[in-house]
Amino acid sequence: MLASMTSVATGAPTVGIVGAGQLARMTYQASISLGVRVRLLAASAADSAAVVASDVAVGPPTGPAVDRFAEGCDVLTFDHELVDADQLACLEASGSAVRPSADVVALAQDKRRQRAQLGTLGFPIPPHAPVRDASDLVAFGAEHGWPIVAKARRGGYDGRGVWVLDGPEAATALVEHTAASGIELLVEAHVPIEQELAVLVARRPGGQAVVYPVVETVQQDGICRELLAPAPVAPELAAAARELGLGIAEAIGVVGVLAVELFRVGDRLVVNELAARPHNSGHSTIEGCATSQFENHLRAVLDWPLGATTPAAPAVATVNVLGSADGGDPVANLPAALEIEGAHVHLYGKAARPGRKLGHVTALGQDLDETRARARRAAALLVGRGAAVGIPT
Ligand SMILES: Nc1ncnc2c1ncn2[C@@H]1O[C@H](COP(=O)(O)OP(=O)(O)OP(=O)(O)O)[C@@H](O)[C@H]1O
Ligand SMILES: [Mg+2]
Repeated sequence: MLASMTSVATGAPTVGIVGAGQLARMTYQASISLGVRVRLLAASAADSAAVVASDVAVGPPTGPAVDRFAEGCDVLTFDHELVDADQLACLEASGSAVRPSADVVALAQDKRRQRAQLGTLGFPIPPHAPVRDASDLVAFGAEHGWPIVAKARRGGYDGRGVWVLDGPEAATALVEHTAASGIELLVEAHVPIEQELAVLVARRPGGQAVVYPVVETVQQDGICRELLAPAPVAPELAAAARELGLGIAEAIGVVGVLAVELFRVGDRLVVNELAARPHNSGHSTIEGCATSQFENHLRAVLDWPLGATTPAAPAVATVNVLGSADGGDPVANLPAALEIEGAHVHLYGKAARPGRKLGHVTALGQDLDETRARARRAAALLVGRGAAVGIPT
């Protein structure tokens, strides 16, 4: 299929991305320098990538719109998991190149399935169990100790769909709430996390893979706020994390980028969750590595040689820009942020709302603390909080 659907104008293949959020926007940016055509299926014409791309279909990420969209693409890939894995399996059966595969998408969509499959494969995961009713949570808490962590099986993001429960009463209240909304749950032991890490791998259909430097993901209230690369961890632990990432990518047969979120507990690593697409924890690769996660995702899904992941500087820090409480648009503060030396500002073109991920800033340097401080200053200026970090406004 790949050879038959190339663009008449340029001979370049067309990569179809289902979803048009900021990940698709940054993938689109990478496609421009490669000369690859990217076509988007956007839920709304106002989506982050839809407002910049030249070839956009508007429609839902499931149903007939996806079948029609796939017809015009050499390879189908994804910006999010809100797709129908059964439909993707049908598209595969009828000869479409779906990358990552329907099976991998089904795994990435379903935290319960991830726990079961990774456990069977022998990867380190926390104790976990499915939940049918509150008694399952209470029994799990009695066995593993409180607090416990209940999670929505599907659809969670930015910590929405993760609940730390301190006892049977909280467990009962949660099940009443989730059952009423049709949310299926799983439960895990509460891990005494010392650091959160992520490792990204890009893998081609034949198995060639590259792994990125391990990053620390600094989380606050379930949202990733900062990335520090390379993660300030012992070299042996970083090597183990990279091996773990490559091992999981190979074991599940992913094609494209795989992000593996990890918890560090002492010198032990525990897998949190998987995302089979470019990921928030890889934004620092745009300026921070020889080849960005977005370019390597394109290369991988097209089965082209992957680019080096070599770090571009000894220290790389990325700070996410979340919408400020007053709903102000960071674009208004761009000139102030750009005063910060070496601040690479990325704004996603999304309507500003409090707490919404609107962009990120990456800085490169020699020293992690100094580099992080610079990225923080620029991010703070973007949301009008320059004064809070000591910057004259
Ligand atoms: N078993 C656990 N023990 C302790 N903390 C946990 C556990 N599972 C999750 N957390 C905390 O909750 C955060 C969000 O969890 P998780 O990554 O599963 O949710 P999510 O909403 O799917 O996140 P994302 O935005 O990455 O998709 C984690 O980054 C971690 O800080
Ligand atoms: Mg997560």
